[in-house]
Amino acid sequence: MTTTVTAPTESALIEAGELIRAGENVAFPTETVYGLAANAYDEKAVHKIFVAKGRPGDNPLIVHISAIEQIYDIINGEMPKNAKLLADAYWPGPLTMIFEKSSRIPDAVTAGLSTVAVRMPAHDVARAFIDACGVPIAAPSANLSGKPSPTTAEHVFNDLNGRVPLIIDGGACDVGLESTVLDARTDIPMVLRPGGVTPEMIESVIGNVSVDPSVMKLLAKNATVRSPGMKYKHYAPNGALTIVKGDAECVAKTICDMYDSAEGESCILALDKHIALYGNRRVHSLGEDASEVANRLFDCLREMDNIGVKNIYAEAVSTDGIGLAVMNRLGRAAAFRIIEAGKG
Ligand code: TXA
Ligand code: MG
Repeated sequence: MTTTVTAPTESALIEAGELIRAGENVAFPTETVYGLAANAYDEKAVHKIFVAKGRPGDNPLIVHISAIEQIYDIINGEMPKNAKLLADAYWPGPLTMIFEKSSRIPDAVTAGLSTVAVRMPAHDVARAFIDACGVPIAAPSANLSGKPSPTTAEHVFNDLNGRVPLIIDGGACDVGLESTVLDARTDIPMVLRPGGVTPEMIESVIGNVSVDPSVMKLLAKNATVRSPGMKYKHYAPNGALTIVKGDAECVAKTICDMYDSAEGESCILALDKHIALYGNRRVHSLGEDASEVANRLFDCLREMDNIGVKNIYAEAVSTDGIGLAVMNRLGRAAAFRIIEAGKG
């Protein structure tokens, strides 16, 4: 199959909508990461997504909408109270919520679960694309399974060339990490995957939120999980990644010691303000603050694979705000190998 990459012109969006209604897959930009779309009502089209990505069939997809009315064909009954408040506050945006599913949504989308994940993205091109499709869009991130989520059309092309007919290029994604996945069916909603809508932002609307403990640790084998995506080893670069946390100077000293005694080529991932602490060692910038780290992290990890370094040493960031999502992705990429500086 030939893969075309197109700018998001009006005619390209019309063609994309036609492809989706004909049962094909199309990659499209959102403010979080690129998604790989299928008509959520078309079981065969949804199945093609799993084949294109090499995705395990028991990992459910998010259904994307562009208008709130669409949700009532997707979920069973009304939106729970907390979900309604959060949708008012953060939709469109990087927030996915879990609902009881309606019978219209095929099992292929939800991997047989009785629940369905729904999100209304904020990206103009994503919204125009969903409008052009005229159906709700089931879409996971548009990477090969096991690779970091794509934050540019080029990342998508590198992973899915020959596997999808069309990629809509909307430039680099704003947030750079996948959406927050929240189960808001209960009195105290639970964050299953942290993202651009932070626990602090959720708390400010509904007063209380919990975070699934598996967000910041490795799961035991055969553990039961609330979100199937947690089971899979994600976002892991080829090089051995070690994260170091603590006071900036201690972190730099610990990283320099490891770097100097390591065999093979190494690279350090550091915040701009700390780069000078690493002298003339090889450093890759993570940006100025946690939101820039979020924005660059996946590109950075892909870059580490491209240059083929054997050891990667990354500075930790604080888990406040978007930092929780950063440390969840970085942590998982490192199998949660997080060293405290100065403590061996
Ligand atoms: O930002 C995003 O969320 C991007 C863009 C394209 O919207 N999509 C994305 O999809 O990251 P994906 O498939 O890579 O991640 C979806 C996550 C998975 O961890 C999956 O297990 C979880 O959402 N999920 C989907 N349906 C669920 C359900 N019914 N219950 C619990 N978790 C669910
Ligand atoms: Mg994904």
